[in-house]
Amino acid sequence: MTDMLVKLYNLPERRHPQPADTVVRRALAPERAAVVPWVREHFGPGWAAECDTAFGRLPVSCFIALAANKLAGFCVYDGTARGMLGPIGVAAPYQRRGLGRELLLSALAAMRAVGYAYAVVGWVASEAFFRRVAGATPIPGSDPGPYAGIIPPPAE
Ligand SMILES: CC(C)(COP(=O)(O)OP(=O)(O)OC[C@H]1O[C@@H](n2cnc3c(N)ncnc32)[C@H](O)[C@@H]1OP(=O)(O)O)[C@@H](O)C(=O)NCCC(=O)NCCS
Repeated sequence: MTDMLVKLYNLPERRHPQPADTVVRRALAPERAAVVPWVREHFGPGWAAECDTAFGRLPVSCFIALAANKLAGFCVYDGTARGMLGPIGVAAPYQRRGLGRELLLSALAAMRAVGYAYAVVGWVASEAFFRRVAGATPIPGSDPGPYAGIIPPPAE
């Protein structure tokens, strides 16, 4: 799977309206104990490890989506390498409601605010989503990129 490049100086400014019961915001350090196991349960141990790394930074480099005060999604940046975004995930029942877009644009705006000019989305599984929401373009020759040769997590 390829990596994709996002021009942070060219992000869409307009946000879509969110359903009334949803919130997307930066996670707080004390929420680590709730968020990392949730990511593990829904998306597996590898993504949970990257999320855990984000909770080791201040400010925490993980955004979360809540629906009716329950965790519905997350998005990490600076989790595997500086300037890289991902993983991002919205739990299946909450997909296609605009939460992924809001998570992605919130994390990209945070990266721009700390001085990055570009973001790299790592090992993209849904190219169309990143192209549509953030104008991302594939990086030639980036498969497997920085993930080459990683040790897979142990079988659960
Ligand atoms: C990819 C993912 C984060 C998208 O989250 P989401 O909340 O469903 O996305 P949104 O509702 O915000 O969609 C935003 C736009 O992208 C489009 N879109 C969403 N998922 C898409 C996909 N898989 N392929 C193409 N377009 C997609 C939506 O139709 C919407 O388009 P619009 O401009 O017409 O409104 C979510 O499907 C997910 O968690 N998938 C499993 C994990 C995953 O693959 N993560 C990415 C790893 S690189």
